[in-house]
Amino acid sequence: MISKHHVVQKILKNHNNLNYFSTASAFAPANIALCKYWGKRDAELNLPYHSSFSLSLGKLGVQTTISFAQEDHDIIISNNQMIAQETEFAQRIIEFLNLIRPNKHTYFQIQSTANIPIAAGLASSAAGFAALVKACNRLFNWRLDKQELSILARLGSGSACRSLWHGFVEWHAGLAHDGMDSYGEPFTVQWPELRIAILIVSSQPKNISSRQAMKLASDSPFYHCWLTKVETDLTAIKRNILNQEFLLFGRTVEENALAMHALIQTSWPPIQYTLPATLAAIQKIWQAREQGLALFFTQDAGANLQLLFLQQDTLQVQALFPTAQIIAPFLNVP
Ligand code: DP6
Repeated sequence: MISKHHVVQKILKNHNNLNYFSTASAFAPANIALCKYWGKRDAELNLPYHSSFSLSLGKLGVQTTISFAQEDHDIIISNNQMIAQETEFAQRIIEFLNLIRPNKHTYFQIQSTANIPIAAGLASSAAGFAALVKACNRLFNWRLDKQELSILARLGSGSACRSLWHGFVEWHAGLAHDGMDSYGEPFTVQWPELRIAILIVSSQPKNISSRQAMKLASDSPFYHCWLTKVETDLTAIKRNILNQEFLLFGRTVEENALAMHALIQTSWPPIQYTLPATLAAIQKIWQAREQGLALFFTQDAGANLQLLFLQQDTLQVQALFPTAQIIAPFLNVP
């Protein structure tokens, strides 16, 4: 098995220079998968069995500052709160920092601020690891290209490799054992009228992390069906975007999320992220659609939903879901 350390060495081979800055900052947007990543062919390197596709959330994401710490351990501060070393959150960051420490006595202070609703579970790893990798690139003056940064971000969290860009991003699964061909690539079509809204139906923490749940993915008797479904959906989503065919696009995105949630219920032990409140919101969406509203949803590994619709239907969606936070992912982004 190839280690993370080996991959980092390979990427940084010709990029180590001694002109460090004392501090560096970067921002990365959160991303929502429209065609989900579910199942790893290599859990060490976060290499997926299949490609996936996402939409970044514009200005919603994580801003991270990294600097050298004077203490004899890493310091991790998230949304102005010191995070205890033994938490899973801190451990994942420290594990990543271990890969890039110039020597074992160098420690860092990581300060990150998320402007996404924490309760939505979106403030999580993807934007955080992408911002951290970008900040490290500046701190150490590595001058890596975005493809290399995407690979480094993937080592922290798979979906982070898509958070290096705004707009639509495809994560190519790749075939190589060391994952050097597994990274994000922007799908450079703009869709200014497209809207995505975050609908929080529950702020309870989820009972199992996506990382844990994904370990069980390929045990499902339907995993091979999922692989076929993803391939068809990914092609259809890209085609629907190119043709700006919103009804087909929304249908495929929703189908893909439903297929992922059906799949995870067939793992053992079974996993269920959908709560009664999620189902109530889904039924409301389906009813509104029956009455002619072009509104679709997707759902990540949690109870909350993300709504997809076009600008022209904003008022109707707001009336249905007054608490949803609406994002225009293609407007006012650099
Ligand atoms: C349902 O990227 O969080 O959001 O690679 O173990 O860190 P790790 O998993 P993670 O899984 C995301 C799962 C998903 C689908 C997606 O974002 O594609």
